[in-house]
Amino acid sequence: MRIVPDRTVRRTTSASASPVSRRDVLRLGGGALALGALAACTPGSDAPSPVASATPTWTPPAAPMRLPDGFVLGAATSAFQVEGSTTSDGRGTSIWDTFAAQPGHVRGGATGDPAADHYRRWEQDVDLMAELGLDGYRFSVAWPRVQPTGSGSVNQAGVDFYRRLVDRLLERGIEPAVTLYHWDLPQPLQDRGGWAARDTASRFADYAAIVVDALPDVTGPWLTINEPKTTAYVGYGSGYHAPGVSDVDQMVAAVHDQLLGHGLAVQAFRASGATGRIGIALNLQPVYPAGAGAHDAAVRADAVENRLFLDPVLVGAYPDDAIGDLPGQIPADPAVLDALVRDGDLATVSEPLDVLAIQYYGVTGVDSSGQNVRLYPTSDAPWQQVHPEGLYETLVRVRDDYPGAPPLVITENGIPDRTPEGTTDDAERVAFLRAHLQQVARAVGDGVDVRAYYAWSLLDNFEWAEGLDQRWGLVHVDFETQERTPKSSARWYADVVAQHAVPPA
Ligand code: GCO
Repeated sequence: MRIVPDRTVRRTTSASASPVSRRDVLRLGGGALALGALAACTPGSDAPSPVASATPTWTPPAAPMRLPDGFVLGAATSAFQVEGSTTSDGRGTSIWDTFAAQPGHVRGGATGDPAADHYRRWEQDVDLMAELGLDGYRFSVAWPRVQPTGSGSVNQAGVDFYRRLVDRLLERGIEPAVTLYHWDLPQPLQDRGGWAARDTASRFADYAAIVVDALPDVTGPWLTINEPKTTAYVGYGSGYHAPGVSDVDQMVAAVHDQLLGHGLAVQAFRASGATGRIGIALNLQPVYPAGAGAHDAAVRADAVENRLFLDPVLVGAYPDDAIGDLPGQIPADPAVLDALVRDGDLATVSEPLDVLAIQYYGVTGVDSSGQNVRLYPTSDAPWQQVHPEGLYETLVRVRDDYPGAPPLVITENGIPDRTPEGTTDDAERVAFLRAHLQQVARAVGDGVDVRAYYAWSLLDNFEWAEGLDQRWGLVHVDFETQERTPKSSARWYADVVAQHAVPPA
């Protein structure tokens, strides 16, 4: 049985990249990182039906569900995915420039240029956000624009770009939220080991201090690192993302070094006297046991997917069941992680936060051998098993399992178009956003402190290894002309923002 629908296998094959979806972590057991093995091992249509521990289906009320006053409804992008202009105004080279330039890494040979040409069209894009009435905009700062070699001198032109963007957003009453790192590591740092090298954590904190000093008036959340899980597992584990490394020990190092970088950046943020709120953006997903005898493997897979990040950040300890040779675990020697953690590291990693950002795309099932199992329908992204109740479950779980957790924000949630050509008629996205926002409102109603929701994404953009073929925008982008056209979902979402309520279907 194949892990993914035929179309995806075909597409991936033609790009000669791994047929492994990027969210499929190392459910191999036995220590193998052979990517082909991953492709062959997960059931498809004859997967078992959802097990009892999956959240029961919930019926939304017939009336609109109101969100609290002050709740921020926004949209998100990231620098490499939208900016383009990768060689302009002194920007340095990032690992994604290098990776995308190598044939076979990105579908269709797309690169980060022009992407959605946002570096040149940012004013128009802020106008668009204002037209949609968005409360907030989450964007990321490109480290190689600000510090072209990843250390040392600052490129003022890069800083100025983000300064102008923040000024304009504030003028328009749109609350900026800044991600400091969304996967575009300066290539010179990768040449010294990247996130598998401890020094990168310190370089990140230096860079963070530069950006924080330049944007002291950012009013929305600051996020240190976007999805350290994806960078570690997919950038350094499967090698499906930049920097294209496939080495489980480097992968484990990338987990710790990113979390250390996060903690050091929080310290730099506090030292700067910044008054904003800071946190980290973690992609979380419920893991359900699928079939007989799967419980233990699912618990370990939950450690891999969720607790390996939540525990160190929120309680200052790594779980002891994420790494090892049992089904569901990262197939490495636990001593690898132990050796990386120096005295004081976990206190740094668990610096108190003002906010915790959750990115939610769906759920996964795990069978007794630790393999991923499809329990729910997927979107056009084969890794995305759509189950809106899983968002409610995730929010409640963080509150209940981590009593010291700060207020939550949801910094990504979305779905790709069904067609790579793109469309503005995206009823499926409307249904997805509605169902997920209802779960957010439900969680808020049940007392979970959620303060914001950012749809992924404002614009169709460069979807990493999928290139320009997977469109996640509320706004369609014609990549030839760069014309922007709001999709049905953008209009629907604008109404949600205006009403501050989620209408029933
Ligand atoms: C991520 C990234 C986004 C993706 C989005 C859709 O969280 O993975 O932040 O860059 O584009 O998730 O795959």
